[in-house]
Amino acid sequence: MRGLILSGGKGTRLRPLTYTNAKQLIPVANKPVLFRVIEAIRDAGITDIGIVIGDTGEQVRSAVIESGLYDALNIQFIEQEAPLGLAHAVKISRDFLGDERFVMFLGDNVIQGGISPLIRDFDNHPEWNCQIVLKAVQDARQYGVAKLAPNGQVEYLVEKPAEPPSNLALVGIYMFDHHIFTAIDNIQPSARGELEITHAIQWLIDNGYVVHSHEHKGWWIDTGKAPDMLEANSHVLDELNHVILGTVDERSQVDSRVTIEEGAQIINSVIRGPAIIGKNTRIVNSYVGPYTSIYHHCTIEDTELERCVVLEHSSIRRIPYRLQDSLIGRHVDMDIADRRPLSNKLTLGDYSKVRLLDLKVIIE
Ligand code: DAU
Repeated sequence: MRGLILSGGKGTRLRPLTYTNAKQLIPVANKPVLFRVIEAIRDAGITDIGIVIGDTGEQVRSAVIESGLYDALNIQFIEQEAPLGLAHAVKISRDFLGDERFVMFLGDNVIQGGISPLIRDFDNHPEWNCQIVLKAVQDARQYGVAKLAPNGQVEYLVEKPAEPPSNLALVGIYMFDHHIFTAIDNIQPSARGELEITHAIQWLIDNGYVVHSHEHKGWWIDTGKAPDMLEANSHVLDELNHVILGTVDERSQVDSRVTIEEGAQIINSVIRGPAIIGKNTRIVNSYVGPYTSIYHHCTIEDTELERCVVLEHSSIRRIPYRLQDSLIGRHVDMDIADRRPLSNKLTLGDYSKVRLLDLKVIIE
């Protein structure tokens, strides 16, 4: 069995974080989502992995090569000239996939419990031509949606319907045999100009192939959708095996569910887990609350943070009120204004979102 990871496409919904970085490289609990996907496939016993790359291909390629995963597995990069759809990505991977059965995993999806049981089931059922994974969600309009017949068979699938026929969303994990290539050859681009994998699977159903569905009961996050980033981070932090590799001075208090990575320093601070502090980051005279990830080479000084994700090389100092539910990008510099005129001074990238406290309201 082979693995195919889709890591092309555009991360428009994660702007401004994805202006300078591939969305699959945004870290969740201090590890890029893409690395979590590669590890899930590896843990299911698959070593031949193709990664489809697009505009951000060079960045993805060098991050994977430097990660250590590249040396341990047989990874091949497959260039897609434009994001022409999930089925298009499968089509251009034909040489890599050959006639083997394979799992396709979208490079921005994170799922609780990994995929080993799914791969085992698909292996044990050679009569299944395809296996899809479904998850009951509150609002299915932004996903592919499945309608099941009373006997549990997949009746039909529809991509991002305005009126979903059920609450069962298609998770970005699919298993196929080689018949998927015939299906793709028989579909046309959708209204948004993409070759949709949903349509190819519908073709399999319509032509009598066996499409088995599995309903996933744990959590699932599509990190490509902005509000899901903090949630994905919280879920993964909850499940980490926490370790302390950096240093904590005697004036600091650190919970048991906290990871302090190598070279990180905690000085006169309180860290409440679950939380992770990245390599060579310094936390000084600060409070870091639950569900916070601070990536490598950051400085947090005289500041309180809770349920935040802070990316690498950022510095947050002397902020007079607690920062909460915030996503802070790379190389960000936040500090108090201590020179007149005493005003809020902001340099914000396109699509940034800022919610400032009305201090008058707080003082009253
Ligand atoms: O996350 C699950 C959903 O993923 C499913 O419910 C939908 O049925 C499926 O169409 C897909 O919808 P998205 O709108 O989330 O797909 P997105 O365009 O974000 O692409 C998913 C991943 O695949 C992402 O990592 C980028 C990559 N990709 C996407 C396209 C369109 C490629 O590598 N090449 C492409 O051509």
